[in-house]
This record gives sequence, structure tokens and C-alpha cells, in this order.
Amino acid sequence: MAGGTIYPVGYLDGAFVDAAEVRLPLLAPGVTYAASVFEGIRGYLSHEGGGVALFRLHEHMERLVRSARVLGLDEIPSAEEMTAATLDLIARNGVAEDCYIRAQVYLGGDGEMTARGPTGVAILARPRPQLPDRLERGLRCQVSNWRRNADNASPPRIKAAANYFNGRLAGLQAKADGYDTALILTEAGKVAEAPGACLAIVRDDQFITPSVTEGILESLTRDTILRRAGRIGLLADVVERPIDRTELYAASEVMLFGTGMEIVPVVGIDRFEIGAGRRGPVTKALQDDYFALVRGATDAPGGWLSPVPSQKETQT
Ligand SMILES: Cc1ncc(COP(=O)(O)O)c(C=O)c1O
Repeated sequence: MAGGTIYPVGYLDGAFVDAAEVRLPLLAPGVTYAASVFEGIRGYLSHEGGGVALFRLHEHMERLVRSARVLGLDEIPSAEEMTAATLDLIARNGVAEDCYIRAQVYLGGDGEMTARGPTGVAILARPRPQLPDRLERGLRCQVSNWRRNADNASPPRIKAAANYFNGRLAGLQAKADGYDTALILTEAGKVAEAPGACLAIVRDDQFITPSVTEGILESLTRDTILRRAGRIGLLADVVERPIDRTELYAASEVMLFGTGMEIVPVVGIDRFEIGAGRRGPVTKALQDDYFALVRGATDAPGGWLSPVPSQKETQT
């Protein structure tokens, strides 16, 4: 996990252990062949300062189980088990700040590429403060000449470690060329997503995002925004459809979103300024709505916020 101190208690294969002991074995196919899937989950301090709640935790764990099934693993722990373990982990660490959790399910042992087990589960967490400057000033992106890995090769729909090699290649190129990050097109030349986030544009009061068959991860933040975008009062329509590269340049706003990214304006693409070259009103309204949701200041649909039990509750 990038940056920050990892909290001292980790979770490995059903037990709470010293975080330093949570290591993947070198000979595991989860390392050598990237036979590994994962989740990134955020916890937010409540708007009343009371405690921390994890956002859409159970749905992240359901996606993790779906990803592990596609990977062909046996004995995948249930979403309920991993949900409970994660809440317990955050409670045991006494977390009282915004945080980030990484849950990894991988092929352990020292078998061959097509082994189905043993299945390993590792969970670690660390503090993750928001980045107000990035949320306001936004990012400059390069449309990459690397193409998105296709569903019939290495399916982007699941959160597989293997997919991030594609994102890494695009991200490295973007940084070498002086941009913050990349936007990746499908083989058909339609916009897919960024290396670690989904994308939407605003054109003529329409909010447009690529559909889930366009080489993207089935993102929970995307789902949250699609359900909320109609409520902010600035949009005539919310549409899922393919996006051409040149529509990016013609958009009045472009934004990236994901659990880690949150909702960030894109203010430039390939040296074109997007809209007025600064965060636009739709992006700002969606950010405000999202942060109110994740901190419990607006009512979230049932099950979206999982409050972390107190340390006392978990250890009795
Ligand atoms: C490639 C990619 N796309 C999209 C997302 C957004 O997914 P989610 O909103 O479920 O975090 C992520 C992760 O955050 C990602 O790694």
C-alpha cells in the first residue's frame, strides 16, 4: 500500500497477527503468476466525529468473492466472513481517523499456474487522509497509446492484480511525459478508464460514463455516483454509453472516481484544457454529495455504511 504507516494489527488466513507477519510467500503462484485479487476500501470519520464507518464494505467483499471465483480459487471465504474480519481489524487497531483497507485473496502454496489452492487471505489497513488540494485543483491526463486489456484476455471487470500491469504501463508513460495519470482506450478506440479509477464526462447537461462492457472495473463509486447524479439538480440526463476520444476534449467537465481517488476533476487532457481548466460545478456538487454520504451527514441507502464497533465490543 502506498505511503503512510500500516496499523499494527493485520489479518492473515483467519487470525489477527502482527502486521509485519502479513507477507506473501515468494514461491506462491499468487506472486509469480499474479494469481491474486484484491479490494481497496475506505473508512471515514463520521461527520459528528463519533467513530469510523466503512463505505460499502459488504459490496466490496462480494466483489472480492466474484473476482476470486473468476480466478478459479477453491475455498474462498464468504463475503460475510471477510466483512466481519475487516470490521474487527479496524476495531482492534483502535482506528479513529480516515483510513484505507487492502484485502487480498491469492493463490498460496508453491503449486503450478493452474493450482486452485491453498487460498490465502490477507488484510491490512493504514491511515488515509483526504487530499483537499487534489480534489479542488484536479489532474492532467494523457490518453495512452497502451490499450485496455480485453475481457477475453484479462477481464478488467474483476479487480485482479494482473490487470494493473496494463494500468502501470499507461501510468508510467503518462508520468514520463509530464502528466499526472493516463486515460486508457479499448482496442475499439473508446474510452475505458484510468489506471485506478473510472471516468465520466459532462456534455450539454448530460452526465456520461462508459458502460460496464467498455473494459472497466465494476466500480462501486461509479454505482454510487450513478444513483446520486440525478439528485444534484444540475443534470438533464445520466447516461451509460461508449465515449469517443474527442468527446473528452469537447466535454465541459471530466472527472475520475473510485474508492481511493474519490471524485477528482480532470482539468487537462493531452494538452487540451477541459472546460474552464478548473473544477466544474457538476464535479463539485457530486463531491459534496459523496462526502456527505460517506461521513453519514446525508442518509445513505441501508448497508452502505458499516460502523466500526468499539474495541471493547470486539474483544469480549
Ligand atoms: C482500474 C480501476 N477502476 C476503477 C476503480 C474504482 O473502483 P471502486 O469505485 O469500486 O473503488 C478502481 C479502484 O478504485 C480501479 O483500480
